[in-house]
Amino acid sequence: MRDDSPRYSSVAIVLHWVMAVAFVLMLGSGVVMSNVELSKTLQFNLYQWHKSLGVLLLVTAVLRLVWRLLHRPPALPVRMKRLERRAAKIGHWVLYGLMIALPLSGWVMVSSSVYGLPTIVFGWFEWPHVPAVVGNEMVNNMASEVHWIVALLFAIAIAGHVVAVIKHAVRDKEHLLRRMWWVKAHSLKSVLLVGLMLGFGSMAEAASYVVDPTTSEVRFSGEHAGDAFEGRFATWSAEIVFDAEDLAASHITARFDMASAVTGNKLYDGTLPQADWFDVQNHAEASFVSTMVSAKPEGGYAAAGELTIRGITQPVTFDFTIEQNAQPVIAEGYFVIDRLAYAIGKGSDPDAEWVSQEIAVHLHIEATVQ
Ligand code: HEM
Ligand code: HEM
Repeated sequence: MRDDSPRYSSVAIVLHWVMAVAFVLMLGSGVVMSNVELSKTLQFNLYQWHKSLGVLLLVTAVLRLVWRLLHRPPALPVRMKRLERRAAKIGHWVLYGLMIALPLSGWVMVSSSVYGLPTIVFGWFEWPHVPAVVGNEMVNNMASEVHWIVALLFAIAIAGHVVAVIKHAVRDKEHLLRRMWWVKAHSLKSVLLVGLMLGFGSMAEAASYVVDPTTSEVRFSGEHAGDAFEGRFATWSAEIVFDAEDLAASHITARFDMASAVTGNKLYDGTLPQADWFDVQNHAEASFVSTMVSAKPEGGYAAAGELTIRGITQPVTFDFTIEQNAQPVIAEGYFVIDRLAYAIGKGSDPDAEWVSQEIAVHLHIEATVQ
């Protein structure tokens, strides 16, 4: 089984959480030292501590940004809407920008202060002032204003970031925290762990299933020149979350490696990858993303969703049965697609004279609870 829920690298995870804690401490200390009546000693020490950690964070944030530009993060789940994926990406860049702009404005502010107090990082070494602005009161006023506004924006951005993660977990059952943590076993554990850390408590969820690729099968069949043919996808993966008691939380996502389609017939296997058929060069992957799983009155279930082949997305609904008491759990599904709706063979056989327009897809899934 391919790891279908890729995780950030350990470097990214450590940086994310260490820096998240540090930035929250910075926000807290900033608010306290500027707004709370403290003894002079405590206030002075807090200022020095704030400046010390602040400049270290400036260096770390720049290094993190450089590291990030050199390393791609794991792709966001295909189940997320395009707009949401774009918003997440923009949001992450905004956070990076603020992580740098905030300590930078603090540094400019202390550099331009008329007091000219040096920044001695945790009593350890002196951090220089920005030479061009030393003692410049106008710059100091501006930097102070910017520091406070950027801090406010940063707090709002973090709140939005956390709300987005919670929204995905609760509404869409998409546990992004799994991507930003090492716990792989059961998503509930990771949500619990970080949820507890943050004081959000836990959330119940439907069971995730791990598909056994050796016994599961995705087959397709149709007719060519009046003869039946059948093929299968050798490489595919699926993410299945199913709970008969909570169908709203159930969802299925599957990806198919189009180049892995085999029929056993050399002519078909040579033709399928070509531009007019699966066009694997431009569209290596097909995907199915469910939008709703429902129970049928006569028994069994129906999964409605979107099937994307050759970059063309069409709605698809298929019925399936599931034997949850079996070990492993067995699900069978079947649906028919119109190949021309996906422009498959549209150039070579637009009237379905040779290859049937309807192609049946059979699913046989054997899976165990994760
Ligand atoms: C100061 C606080 C925080 C900052 C500055 C921050 C910043 C970021 C940034 C920049 C990314 C994108 C990483 C990348 O793609 O390069 C990210 C991802 C992420 N953050 Fe935070 N974060 C903060 C706090 C939190 C908290 C409290 C949570 C817990 C809910 C959280 C959960 C996540 C998750 C789950 C991801 C991965 C999103 C994905 O699936 O792509 N972050 N964070
Ligand atoms: C790294 C991230 C940083 C965060 C999250 C942060 C946050 C804050 C916040 C929330 C305030 C209170 C703003 C107000 O109420 O007016 C503040 C004030 C302040 N910060 Fe930072 N800061 C950071 C970095 C720095 C750095 C690097 C320096 C200097 C080297 C610095 C120096 C100051 C000073 C001197 C004040 C007091 C401003 C005043 O009293 O008007 N900060 N900071």
